[in-house]
Amino acid sequence: MKNLAGKNILITGAGAGIGRLMAHYVADEGANTALIDINSEAVAKTVEEVKSRKVKVTGDVCDISNRESVMDVVAKIKQDFGSVDVLINNAGTVIGKSFFDLTIDQMQRTMNINYWGHIYFTKALIGDMIARNSGAIVNVASSSGLIGMPILSDYCASKFAEVGFSESLRRELKKFKHTGVKVTCVCPYIIDTGLFKGFKPLSMNPVIKAEDAARAIVKGFKNGKPYVMLPPFSIYGSMMLKLLPTSIFDWMLSITGGSSAMDSFTGRK
Ligand SMILES: NC(=O)c1ccc[n+]([C@@H]2O[C@H](COP(=O)([O-])OP(=O)(O)OC[C@H]3O[C@@H](n4cnc5c(N)ncnc54)[C@H](O)[C@@H]3O)[C@@H](O)[C@H]2O)c1
Repeated sequence: MKNLAGKNILITGAGAGIGRLMAHYVADEGANTALIDINSEAVAKTVEEVKSRKVKVTGDVCDISNRESVMDVVAKIKQDFGSVDVLINNAGTVIGKSFFDLTIDQMQRTMNINYWGHIYFTKALIGDMIARNSGAIVNVASSSGLIGMPILSDYCASKFAEVGFSESLRRELKKFKHTGVKVTCVCPYIIDTGLFKGFKPLSMNPVIKAEDAARAIVKGFKNGKPYVMLPPFSIYGSMMLKLLPTSIFDWMLSITGGSSAMDSFTGRK
């Protein structure tokens, strides 16, 4: 999907961080945007900002972990826009507690937002994309969906689920010859949005600027890329290291700061 002019793009978590920036960048290219966030003030602010582009933009409040709310908001967006060409499943959350301190309810909430919320939107919109044999589904996962990290067990589990879902869906679309519908799975390392405030970066792994991440994601799905790894060298490098004996990989993660990176985490209050 090289040309975004006139395309309808739904972005979840558009009230802050990379979701907000992606809304700006796709609108710069002439795309209409249906913006969703749980935070009413934040999504209204992004709508105001994007409006200046003379594209159609709507903002809706929705907790993506609530299946009925998702169905309602999708019905409204279909009425407003007719169809959705690109779904960007971006909204996400992180708690940052040890498995021993997390309650089952907290772990389920992480899964309900980071995984199930994305499934609800995909399920509600993929049928129309298949009927047109055209569309893109962008799943914002994480490098934590490729490598498990301490103090992030619920988050990593939700992101591993997202990566597995994205990979299976992409192959399934190919199997059934729905080749016009693309899936892009995004696996970034730490981005400076504030979601991971207090995280101590690993050696030789500088934090990614939100603007760079958002631009790379937009470029990635426009080019129909199956993966956007950020930064690519670091993520693919870490995946190669997984081929080493586990004890050596664990040791390398530990000496580069992986086991203590979350010790100073505060996150969003
Ligand atoms: N920031 C990072 O370091 C980082 C790294 C890897 C992956 N990611 C992923 O990128 C995505 C965006 O992260 P970000 O850094 O821009 O986060 P952010 O906190 O800056 O923005 C996330 C937005 O999602 C919204 N949101 C949260 N829960 C919601 C819900 N239940 N329903 C609707 N909206 C909800 C928030 O209100 C917020 O506006 C997330 O999926 C995150 O897991 C972030």
